[in-house]
Amino acid sequence: MAKSSLLLLLLLLSILSIAAAAAAGASSPSSATFIKAKCSATKYPDLCVRSLSPYASEIQQNSWKLAATALNVSLATAQSAKAFVGRLSRAKGMRPREVEALHDCVDEMADTVYRLNRSCGELERAGRARREEFLWRISNVQTWVSAALTDDNTCTDGFPGQILNGRVKASVSSGMLSVEHSTSNALALINQYASKHNM
Ligand SMILES: *[C@@H]1O[C@H](CO)[C@@H](O)[C@H](O)[C@H]1NC(C)=O
Ligand SMILES: *[C@@H]1O[C@H](CO)[C@@H](O)[C@H](O)[C@H]1NC(C)=O
Repeated sequence: MAKSSLLLLLLLLSILSIAAAAAAGASSPSSATFIKAKCSATKYPDLCVRSLSPYASEIQQNSWKLAATALNVSLATAQSAKAFVGRLSRAKGMRPREVEALHDCVDEMADTVYRLNRSCGELERAGRARREEFLWRISNVQTWVSAALTDDNTCTDGFPGQILNGRVKASVSSGMLSVEHSTSNALALINQYASKHNM
């Protein structure tokens, strides 16, 4: 009798944990729909969905969390692009003019990383702020992220003509492009969040 009730208990526990897992999974479809809907208003919706879906269970249907996560993704992308360009500048066989152009690019990426990092903190505070404070904090975030977005462009614009060989230039460009795209998406989600919050 004792043995069978123990078995019954174990069975019950495993059913409960399966049910809990199913419930956790069940919140995901609605979060996925939410992310997809919000991302549809960004300039790069596929990238938006792809980069934010892994965080669906944390985002749920929270616009602030969505924007803050997108900003974190953008910051991480900028950090890795900066590290990549830095490694490239130390690669063998780079000519001095190339090294110089790459160093300028690293400096610009450092500004971008700084602005995005600061924006993350400010968005965090905006999320907790009341109306007046919210308005100026969110406008700081919008200003800094916009500035980061324009910064990115100058990196490759700064490599006119033959300074960088084709392959180096192409890989720098694609790194810059991924930063630009993820930052553009983050800004769009921040703007969506800000305008809804202001109503
Ligand atoms: C963004 O990243 C920071 C640092 O890694 C982390 O503390 C924070 O929780 C993240 N924010 C969101 C909304 O995920
Ligand atoms: C921003 O940088 C500070 C200092 O380097 C760091 O402590 C913080 O975690 C960074 N924030 C994010 C969101 O990564």
